[in-house]
Amino acid sequence: MKVLVVGGGGREHALAWKIAASPEVNEVLCAPGNAGTARIGRNFDVAATDLDGLVALAKSEGVQLVVIGPEDPLCAGLADRLRAEGILVFGPGADGARLEGSKVFSKEFLDRYRIPTGEWRRFDRAGAAKGYVESLTTWPQVVKANGLAAGKGVFVCEDAKEACATIDAIMEEKRFGAAGTEVVIEEFLHGRELSVHVVTDGSTLLLLEAVQDYKQIGEGDVGPNTGGMGIYSPVPFVTQRLMRQIEQRVLLPTIDALRKEGIDYRGVLFAGLMITEAGPRVLEYNCRFGDPETQAMMRRMTSDFVPYLVAAASGTLESMDPVTWDTRSCVGVVGAAEGYPGPYEKGHMIAGVDEAAELDDVVVFHAGTRLDGTQTLTAGGRVLCATALGSNLDAARGNAYAAYDRIQWAGKYCRRDIGLARRERVLVEADDNGEA
Ligand code: AMP
Ligand code: GLY
Repeated sequence: MKVLVVGGGGREHALAWKIAASPEVNEVLCAPGNAGTARIGRNFDVAATDLDGLVALAKSEGVQLVVIGPEDPLCAGLADRLRAEGILVFGPGADGARLEGSKVFSKEFLDRYRIPTGEWRRFDRAGAAKGYVESLTTWPQVVKANGLAAGKGVFVCEDAKEACATIDAIMEEKRFGAAGTEVVIEEFLHGRELSVHVVTDGSTLLLLEAVQDYKQIGEGDVGPNTGGMGIYSPVPFVTQRLMRQIEQRVLLPTIDALRKEGIDYRGVLFAGLMITEAGPRVLEYNCRFGDPETQAMMRRMTSDFVPYLVAAASGTLESMDPVTWDTRSCVGVVGAAEGYPGPYEKGHMIAGVDEAAELDDVVVFHAGTRLDGTQTLTAGGRVLCATALGSNLDAARGNAYAAYDRIQWAGKYCRRDIGLARRERVLVEADDNGEA
């Protein structure tokens, strides 16, 4: 089978790596890919947002399955376009992708089906939004641009002054363009954050292992949000009971609701959750795999993933056995360019990746890298991620940092607290009797 992976980040390198390991696959193509995917399969210089180019590529190469990584092509309807050509696609159509593409749509969806989430209001005028936040007595509050903003359109505001400035930046200064025509203002939820992914063909649901991501740039969770600076899995506070609760209260109702809305959702649904004292609450839906979360999942998955991708794409997931997992822990440390998530430089030479990959149980996934002849150069904010398995979280952590430290480029930055013990602190587990 010939498989095309759309995208060029760490998520896509990890997916291509796992897909290439399948005995059913003889070739993996990536568009556009990165320096890491170039060593697994063939890269094509077609952007993930070039829908015409991607459809033409899939047709001319006779691709049998397309796996779409990023949200932009999903929201733009790439899966619909490919399906119209009779090509098997892992990824929802534009209707399902609205769960990520519009916060207003997803919040209305959550409320309509009584799926637990924070209280919220929507505003399409800055004046009304500011009037509302001036009237609030509970802080912090969360201000969100409605549309896609590469994970940067969400602001936790400590008081009305900060919220008003944020509303101005989004709605008046149009910092996120059309994505900021509307804002959602949401109650701040206290608890522990968790990313849960479920593969679905629209009716059957296949739960993947939970992963903990680190969203903020600074150690101890300070500073602005990023795409994600590190990961570990499994997550000690996630008990079977909590996973059952998440499945019953959030995931199954979501799949049911999608069906009721007439949305044929085939791909992965990624729920960003806050585990509060009253149970899980949905912070956001994503219509695609998380990055870097997917890297930990691909490292720990022992099943061949390709039959599951095909089954989800073709609507036959019900016939599949559960996915099996390595019981060891995985830690991934993201290396970023100095300055990220603000402005940063590109084009620095990267050395030591092969030396890092020689270590036991280590795989280095590329994100923002590109090949220049035989030299690998930095080409993005998040440059790569050193992932390692270990018999427990500490062992995996040691292996991951040992690998990371063998890699060099000018201005390399990482958080040093990925997978540290304070993350294991047990949360008051959500009470089964809590409101749903
Ligand atoms: P989102 O893109 O909506 O998941 O928001 C990005 C990040 O902002 C989340 O991962 C949380 O860390 C934080 N966040 C979003 N909404 C809330 C909320 N209602 N309460 C607390 N934190 C939130
Ligand atoms: N790591 C968070 C995301 O992929 O949205």
